Amino acid sequence: MSAQVDSRPTEPGVRAPMVIAIDGPAASGKSSTAQWVAQELGYLHVDSGALYRAATAARLRRAAGPDEPWTEEQVLDAAQAVTLVPGERSFVPLLDGVDADEELRGSEVTRRVSQVARMEGVRAWVNAHVRSAATSRAVVVDGRDIGTAVFPEAQLKIFLVADPWERARRRLIQRLGRGPADDEIAEETDRLVQRDRLDATQTVQAPDAVLIDTTYLTQREQVERIAALARAVTHRASDASAIDAG
Ligand code: CDP
Repeated sequence: MSAQVDSRPTEPGVRAPMVIAIDGPAASGKSSTAQWVAQELGYLHVDSGALYRAATAARLRRAAGPDEPWTEEQVLDAAQAVTLVPGERSFVPLLDGVDADEELRGSEVTRRVSQVARMEGVRAWVNAHVRSAATSRAVVVDGRDIGTAVFPEAQLKIFLVADPWERARRRLIQRLGRGPADDEIAEETDRLVQRDRLDATQTVQAPDAVLIDTTYLTQREQVERIAALARAVTHRASDASAIDAG
């Protein structure tokens, strides 16, 4: 287990470090929203998807061919090259000690990551890293099952959704740095819908999650909504501890 954590104090009045869980399907804006919310609140962001991607990338570096089947043992063995370290805004997975974000977002990793994420041992490995990062400080964690499997006790759970066409459009703008044409969006929509299907079993909305459809929201609007919800939860928690203390 190699997650390194710092020991900065968390919110006064809150007993356990605060956890905000943000789940949702591919390209629903979870990571960028989670990072921004974390920044607003002075928390750190943990991107669980980046750990699935890091394990996949680590195995790909050792792969003999593009469609070679992998066992869980092989993936977990390769994943020993991954460490999770606190950065300025987010915990960053390092591959052999180096930040390899571009490699993690590449199409080969994206093509194979859902298969890797279905391996129970890999899910346990990711969850252990994520929980370890959250032991000593407040975090915003994004993924697909954070509010159900990883932090069922999270003080705030958000489930972000958006229309697939809009998700595809946003993902392409992020990747290409320009407005995409309709046929490019159509192709990306098809890829996203396929990945939604592959990820369906691990994408679970907690019954106590707040559902936010971001199709017609700006990123600022969605960040402000979540930050406002987080403040409400924090106030409720400090009111409760004041009553306990009195
Ligand atoms: O950013 P995007 O939504 O494209 O994906 P990601 O968050 O980087 O996650 C990559 C992949 O990891 C997903 O397609 C899932 O297969 C898997 N994943 C998961 O199974 N459970 C999580 N909590 C997070 C990601």
